[in-house]
Amino acid sequence: MEAVVDARQWNGKRVFLTGHTGFKGGWLSLWLSRMGAEVHGFALDPLRSPSLCEVAGVAAAQASDVRADLADLPALTTAMTRARPDVLFHLAAQPLVRESYLRPLETFQTNVMGTLHVLEAARGIDSIRAIVVVTTDKVYHNREWEHPYREVDRLGGRDPYSASKAAAELATDAYRASFFSAAGAARVSTARAGNVIGGGDWSDDRLVPGCLEAFEAGETVKLRNPDAVRPWQHVLDPLHGYLLLAERMMEGAGGFVESWNFGPEDGNGARVGEVAAMIAEIWGEGASVLADPGRDEPHEAGLLKLDSSKARSRLGWRPRWGLRKSLEKTVEWHRAFLAGEDMSAVTLRQIEDFTGELS
Ligand SMILES: NC(=O)c1ccc[n+]([C@@H]2O[C@H](COP(=O)([O-])OP(=O)(O)OC[C@H]3O[C@@H](n4cnc5c(N)ncnc54)[C@H](O)[C@@H]3O)[C@@H](O)[C@H]2O)c1
Repeated sequence: MEAVVDARQWNGKRVFLTGHTGFKGGWLSLWLSRMGAEVHGFALDPLRSPSLCEVAGVAAAQASDVRADLADLPALTTAMTRARPDVLFHLAAQPLVRESYLRPLETFQTNVMGTLHVLEAARGIDSIRAIVVVTTDKVYHNREWEHPYREVDRLGGRDPYSASKAAAELATDAYRASFFSAAGAARVSTARAGNVIGGGDWSDDRLVPGCLEAFEAGETVKLRNPDAVRPWQHVLDPLHGYLLLAERMMEGAGGFVESWNFGPEDGNGARVGEVAAMIAEIWGEGASVLADPGRDEPHEAGLLKLDSSKARSRLGWRPRWGLRKSLEKTVEWHRAFLAGEDMSAVTLRQIEDFTGELS
């Protein structure tokens, strides 16, 4: 049976969230505070403007809002100690593959040592019941297989981003076994999701933000990797999975302290070219895309599919929005932004639509 987030479980819960100034963290903040949770954010200032944080009132949704680097363990420990959270979601990261080729050491520093700092700070805080460490579908040793990756498949990563997230998985596993295994200790799991789309993402080098920017300017989108297959999903779908996972861990049920895939329906991804053509059609106004593979592009995996049958059968999770609906919601959000609407209200309305509260 399909599970839905239990808002009553979140009402009054204290949540420590790293990465609240980012795309996924911003949506999660607004969702949590809408359910009555007290959200304590820890992250750097938004890297670019506009940002979801800035336009959708994410800062105002925080009970406390610390802007500091994960490298600063004392700042992290102080913020977490003051927050005394019940639950911790770790989302802060350097999340871009191409950026990781430009800044490999910083990517490893933030994604591996940053994760260890979060776990090290959390070790000393006995209020924490559940910790969800967010990694990615790119943690798998990619063999360009046709079949979707399962949680038991080998970890690896050819580019610095993927390898740093695979390393974060290993580091979390060691901390879980070494420091979070005693009775009463926080339960720790990792979550691996696919390529997420949704309103409020202005990151460089991501397909959907790139398309929207070009369409807005009346330009043709040039696709450097049109045949690459990725597991696309709306940002609310994996966030729903993270919330269900944390709920099960907070309830104290055994068997959840492991890794979880959260990918699109039936594990099948879609080609970059297909996604771009679909978003152009939804945008309208003659928007167009063109295949333009570059010659000296750094390596990125060609084929990546994710098997989410474990989350489906044991958490009752399933993706609620398919690819077309996810793209429609993204365009709807972006057009509302361009029209100068209240983006906090628009974002909350999309969350209510997702959870079925509007129907
Ligand atoms: N967006 C995707 O398609 C996708 C897919 C799979 C996994 N993920 C993972 O989800 C998480 C969130 O991704 P996103 O798309 O929201 O990224 P984002 O770039 O929008 O947000 C990143 C967040 O991390 C914070 N951050 C970065 N470096 C930091 C540092 N050194 N110290 C403190 N805070 C720091 C930023 O301030 C920001 O709040 C990441 O862990 C990412 O790897 C994202």
